[in-house]
Amino acid sequence: MEAIQWKLLPLLTLLASFLLFFYFQNPSKKYQKNCSLLPHQHYWITSNRIVTPHGVISGAVEVKEGKIVSIVKEEEKNGKTKLENVIDYGEAVVMPGLVDVHAHLDDPGRAEWEGFPSGTKAAAAGGITTLVDMPLNSDPSTVSRETLQLKIKAAESRIYVDVGFWGGLVPENAFNASALEDLLNAGVLGLKSFMCPSGINDFPMTNASHIKEGLSILAKYRRPLLVHAEKQLDFESDLGVEGGSNDARSYLTYLKTRPASWEEAAIRDLLTLTKDTRIGAPAEGAHLHIVHLSDSSNSLDLIKDAKSGGDSVTVETCPHYLAFSAEEIRDGDTRFKCSPPIRDAANKEKLWEALLAGHVDMLSSDHSPTLPELKLLDDGDFLRAWGGISSLQFVLPVTWSYGQKYGVTLEQLALWWSERPASLAGQELKGAIAIGNHADMVVWDPDVEFDLDDDPIYLKHAGISAYMGTKLSGKVSATFVRGNLVFKDGKHAPAACGVPILAK
Ligand SMILES: *[C@@H]1O[C@H](CO)[C@@H](O)[C@H](O)[C@H]1NC(C)=O
Ligand SMILES: *[C@@H]1O[C@H](CO)[C@@H](O)[C@H](O)[C@H]1NC(C)=O
Ligand SMILES: *[C@@H]1O[C@H](CO)[C@@H](O)[C@H](O)[C@H]1NC(C)=O
Ligand SMILES: [Zn+2]
Repeated sequence: MEAIQWKLLPLLTLLASFLLFFYFQNPSKKYQKNCSLLPHQHYWITSNRIVTPHGVISGAVEVKEGKIVSIVKEEEKNGKTKLENVIDYGEAVVMPGLVDVHAHLDDPGRAEWEGFPSGTKAAAAGGITTLVDMPLNSDPSTVSRETLQLKIKAAESRIYVDVGFWGGLVPENAFNASALEDLLNAGVLGLKSFMCPSGINDFPMTNASHIKEGLSILAKYRRPLLVHAEKQLDFESDLGVEGGSNDARSYLTYLKTRPASWEEAAIRDLLTLTKDTRIGAPAEGAHLHIVHLSDSSNSLDLIKDAKSGGDSVTVETCPHYLAFSAEEIRDGDTRFKCSPPIRDAANKEKLWEALLAGHVDMLSSDHSPTLPELKLLDDGDFLRAWGGISSLQFVLPVTWSYGQKYGVTLEQLALWWSERPASLAGQELKGAIAIGNHADMVVWDPDVEFDLDDDPIYLKHAGISAYMGTKLSGKVSATFVRGNLVFKDGKHAPAACGVPILAK
């Protein structure tokens, strides 16, 4: 009896291997149903307003197994092509899904601040189909191959949209080429560093020498360095915090502690290094991206000059700098604290001008939540409260609503929120409704107004968001990630089938 069983063993092993092989070869068959709220893998989306890189068209987009396989204009549609499994969105806008290159999801280690599940559910509900997670505010920070592995593990089966990762450039790894190469080989899409204290102890600031080293390694990989550009100037840092007469509940007290001259000083330093990114210079192939610009005066002039000189430089700003101004922030309302700070109304107007003129390249959320108790909403102490604005789910309607006054177009939204950020993150198959690209799309209605307070919010701590209590226009009704309908009218797909994006 025993002898017979032993003889069967190789056969059983073979059978088991076969089953495993087929399971892993074709996992999509097994859970496809739960990844998408649609029954089909091959279907057509029709609308009168499809935003493509060549303009807004009326017609149909054919999606097959996660990709856009054809785009047919209304006038070419009749007779020629027989559409099946059509989802007709009528007058709603079909746009490329947003690519948010600056989000802090705080996972692993501080998932109680946000976490991958709630963060990516909120992203999906807001029309964001890809986000790139910042290397800090999680615990540990993403500064090595090992810590990136922890991120990937934490993201597995818990993300509703695709998520890439920036790695941290910190003093500990900046002069160690093999450590940086290890991190880049492990798949981070680029690196991020700070020119002032980050607020997180295990993510120390870098100086010009660290950044120069970082750029020289990144040049070989053709991946960007993102920098938080504020440099503490001793003279001003004495203002505010130590002056006993300053009221910590007053927004102006906080604003004085981080003047525009800090941004200007940091950017001036950075732009001495970016000369190396010019064609023929030692760090050709490297790219420097300045995150969340607030100062629209001298800092922006410096960036414009560097660009015209051939430096490989881009800059982003965030919706909160375009929506709010210092004059409107009530004392004690620490929901509005972020760094660099929201400046005055004149600065905001100039920032809009720069965005519309193309001097600011793209937008990002800089969604940076925390626990409500760390926002000190009861004390209203601007100097001690956590700095960071919570916004992920709202960035599309916010940009649209506040942009009405400036005549913002659908094409501009797609450029600022999809095309250019996808390019920064090296995602050639994302960021545009184009044949061969991932079928990452958002369907929304620009004319529908809604009160944020009445709407389902998927962020872990909705109450800390500076946008609560406002009314916005532009409602997302459906979000597709690689062809999966992951969000529809207040409902998410049952399974979290976003994928971690790793650079190769
Ligand atoms: C699909 O979803 C259903 C209901 O949510 C659940 O019971 C089932 O286990 C899921 N299947 C897979 C393969 O995830
Ligand atoms: C450089 O980093 C590697 C890990 O990638 C580590 O093994 C090595 O000790 C580091 N070298 C120095 C001088 O810190
Ligand atoms: C940057 O800091 C390092 C120490 O981590 C130091 O060796 C270097 O001289 C500093 N560079 C500048 C420009 O301050
Ligand atoms: Zn940030």
